Amino acid sequence: MNATRIDPRPSVIGDRLARVKRVIAVTGWKGGIGKSVTASTLALLLAQKGYGTGLADLDFCGASAHVALGADGAYPEEEMGLLPPEVSGVRFMSVSFFSSGRAVPLRGADISGAVVEMLAVTLWGDLDFLVVDMPPGINDTALDAIRLLPKAEVLAVTTPSVMARSVLERSLELYRRLGVPLLGVVENMRGRSGRAASSPGVRFDDGLEKALGRPADLLNTAFARDLEKAVLPLLKA
Ligand SMILES: Nc1ncnc2c1ncn2[C@@H]1O[C@H](COP(=O)(O)OP(=O)(O)OP(=O)(O)O)[C@@H](O)[C@H]1O
Ligand SMILES: [Mg+2]
Repeated sequence: MNATRIDPRPSVIGDRLARVKRVIAVTGWKGGIGKSVTASTLALLLAQKGYGTGLADLDFCGASAHVALGADGAYPEEEMGLLPPEVSGVRFMSVSFFSSGRAVPLRGADISGAVVEMLAVTLWGDLDFLVVDMPPGINDTALDAIRLLPKAEVLAVTTPSVMARSVLERSLELYRRLGVPLLGVVENMRGRSGRAASSPGVRFDDGLEKALGRPADLLNTAFARDLEKAVLPLLKA
């Protein structure tokens, strides 16, 4: 018998997300191009504007949104499910809460199971936006997330590198075929003299690294300002 047919958790996930208005899946097809800082900063920007905002780190093998948010010491509370702790106004859930700072030695079906489990136990409540930090590429976890989050809209992060752009169109085409709406593409790490003035994009910011872990400082970076200009109009927020 196919065990997934009798797994009740995917329908539980629908209930858990019933009061979440929009799900923004921050994705990209390369590692290290700024998906996690984009997802974390976007969540902080939306919360600062007064939107009910959540952030789910679904990158089980490389969870890092907690580093950007400085979520040390935060932990979910149990109440017939898990209540995500609020970090600088953002309801935050990540595998990092359960891994005690260690790498998570999961693979294949175990990772999928962990994603399903996390989404099934998290009590998001009423949210305007749930921002999701996706793992790189379209792997098992990403496909599961897309399947389990039918409201997801994709915000794609890329960089000006020829290598990053070469996979972008193919990947966007796959999302189109899967019927996932594309919110837009953020070109991150543009050079200082790049086209940032004429078209939305996010410049390389020397000050970003030392603001990681300090949400108030993160919101004051040139990175956050560029991101706000590039992305909030796409969200109409
Ligand atoms: N615009 C930028 N200016 C300066 N540094 C940046 C910028 N964007 C990202 N970085 C830095 O690049 C590094 C990688 O960013 P991040 O972890 O967000 O990438 P990622 O795409 O989520 O990586 P992974 O694929 O490993 O999950 C971080 O140290 C981040 O601070
Ligand atoms: Mg990441």
